[in-house]
Amino acid sequence: MAKARTLYACTECGGQSPKWQGQCPHCAVWNTLVETVVPGGNAGSATVENRYAGLTAARAVITLDQVSAEDIARIPSGLPEFDRVLGGGFVPGSVVLLGGDPGIGKSTLLLQALQSVSAVSQVLYVTGEESPEQVAARARRLKVDGRRIPLLAEISLEKIVDTLRTQRPTVAIIDSIQTLYSEALTAAPGSVSQVRECAAQLTRLAKAGGPAIVLVGHVTKEGAIAGPRVLEHIVDTVLYFEGDSGSSFRLVRAIKNRFGAVNELGVFAMTETGLREVSNPSALFLSHTGDPVPGSCVTVTQEGSRPLAVEIQALLDEAHAPNPKRLTVGLETNRLAMLLAVLHRHAGVACFDQDVFVNAVAGVKIAEPAADLAVLLAMVSSLRGKPLPGKMVVFGEVGLAGEVRPVQRGQERLREAAKLGFTRALVPRANITRQGVEGIEAIPIDRVEQAVHWLREH
Ligand code: TYD
Ligand code: MG
Repeated sequence: MAKARTLYACTECGGQSPKWQGQCPHCAVWNTLVETVVPGGNAGSATVENRYAGLTAARAVITLDQVSAEDIARIPSGLPEFDRVLGGGFVPGSVVLLGGDPGIGKSTLLLQALQSVSAVSQVLYVTGEESPEQVAARARRLKVDGRRIPLLAEISLEKIVDTLRTQRPTVAIIDSIQTLYSEALTAAPGSVSQVRECAAQLTRLAKAGGPAIVLVGHVTKEGAIAGPRVLEHIVDTVLYFEGDSGSSFRLVRAIKNRFGAVNELGVFAMTETGLREVSNPSALFLSHTGDPVPGSCVTVTQEGSRPLAVEIQALLDEAHAPNPKRLTVGLETNRLAMLLAVLHRHAGVACFDQDVFVNAVAGVKIAEPAADLAVLLAMVSSLRGKPLPGKMVVFGEVGLAGEVRPVQRGQERLREAAKLGFTRALVPRANITRQGVEGIEAIPIDRVEQAVHWLREH
């Protein structure tokens, strides 16, 4: 096979250069040139006529109302928690990127999903990372019926594309995108240009009436998916598999989804026989101590369409170094610094001589500011050595002026708390409706000092 012609394109400005150079000749940025395949094979084909030659059969321009808005048919994965993050199941012709740390359970999850999909339609599992024996051993451990799951151990993109064309599966797994290489490029597998080219070709195949493709992606030490950022733009859905290595709980989170909501969360537990779904995850993020202890406060966060009760723990201890420690697990450290300043200025509680540690229980990560008030009260409770009243939840965003601002979907959060047996809630005033939520007494809070004062009285 003749080698396809390649040239070097700048990842910043898109400018092209026939040779690799340290600096892009077009935009003068350094180290941005990566090898790419020239579409059409040779330089002569890049004329305007040739570029549009393949598009003669293109569709006519239509207005939006002429597009029939059919519901997208979905292929359920057999795991409702996984379907939740996918937006209801695999969409034919779509591409999903599943990223996560090594050993977190990506291959396990996908093999379990293939088991159910294979009962209703054709599937294909492409392994570039593990040998067929390793995949088969995992399948036996998971008690997956191997007869219906065709396996291809291959890392050549061209051969994989050929197989996908002839086998015509409905769902195909590529484990992983970093192991593939295209013969058109000289770069090594896993390099930026290879990952990008392979993902782009597979996406093109999927969009042209091909299978739903799931690409497994490695993450770098910083937690981003290894390879170019463009990978996240090419695919339809980006999922991250997270979890604390110390616990068996695993979270699948949707970061981007063209076919569903983002920030959806699927919760699993890793067991001896694979991933098991956790359908009532709130109970998981509460520590199960009997009596209330100082420094602990339960909040309700919203993860996608689902409210989650999470326990926040704070520990304040006299600092012995000139710079007291400020540490958070699962929460933003900058946000903590802000809350400490608000606490001092508006409620008169000073913590400058204290080491402060704040933790969201069970490795959950909270990105939304709705947990602010709970963090603040957990700190006050720890500082005073006095537990918060039992069976109470707290939520609300804290502003720099010391105001407590309403959060989204306050009613749903209250209902979740009531369902879990909480009877009292400190919430922003605007989140309280006239009819209220049965079984829970909502106490309106306008300002930070008011919440701190309420604690003193109770
Ligand atoms: P794996 O799916 O290979 O992770 P990834 O593809 O993300 O690298 O999962 C590997 C881990 O899961 C490994 O440490 C063993 C554990 N595991 C179980 O605890 N139970 C099981 O049934 C299976 C298959 C794996
Ligand atoms: Mg794997």
